[in-house]
Amino acid sequence: MQAKINKSTLSLIEGDITRQDTDAIVNAANKSLRGGGGVDGAIHRAGGPKILEECIKIGGCETGEAVITTGGNLKAKYVIHTVGPVYRDGEHNEPRLLENAYRNSLLLASSKGIKGIAFPSISTGAYGYPLEEAAEIALKTSVTYLKEHTDIELIRFVLFGRHALGVYEMVLKRLMEGYI
Ligand code: APR
Repeated sequence: MQAKINKSTLSLIEGDITRQDTDAIVNAANKSLRGGGGVDGAIHRAGGPKILEECIKIGGCETGEAVITTGGNLKAKYVIHTVGPVYRDGEHNEPRLLENAYRNSLLLASSKGIKGIAFPSISTGAYGYPLEEAAEIALKTSVTYLKEHTDIELIRFVLFGRHALGVYEMVLKRLMEGYI
């Protein structure tokens, strides 16, 4: 499913983010930047040790912030590492922190002249963020960013499994029809 915002495209696909041929892919990292499971593990495995070397030099990343490294052996030239919030009950600033993770990743991409970026569904795995609520934040933040910034041509969400894709498609439809 795709949506056009000005001249930019926001697309939703099912797949593996490590295989995306975009300028940058986004990692759902932790604050240590030392790797982990899920997306983090997959990106480090596929991208090779150069990514971790640069992460160690950077030293760490606060929740909601974003840093950038080489893409190593990946098709993508860059990996933007961001740290989503661990979901507790939605009353501990989780929505704002998740919004910051997406927005700061996009701001960093713009600063590097990146035209195409691929996101996973940040915080909805090990960090336990409810999928539909996270999708609303992810898509609202992305649509708002594309309305305000014409430099980024493509934002692709790479969802892991049909269920996640279906939830994102439902939320994007509601967003584009003005219901949320
Ligand atoms: N491609 C795309 N999406 C993926 C992939 C992949 N290869 N692998 C997992 N996912 C999906 C998961 O299904 C989930 O929907 O990415 C989403 C995020 O899940 P996690 O990777 O668990 O990330 P998160 O919930 O943000 O937790 C981050 O987990 O791996 C550790 O080091 C990481 O401590 C950090 C925490």
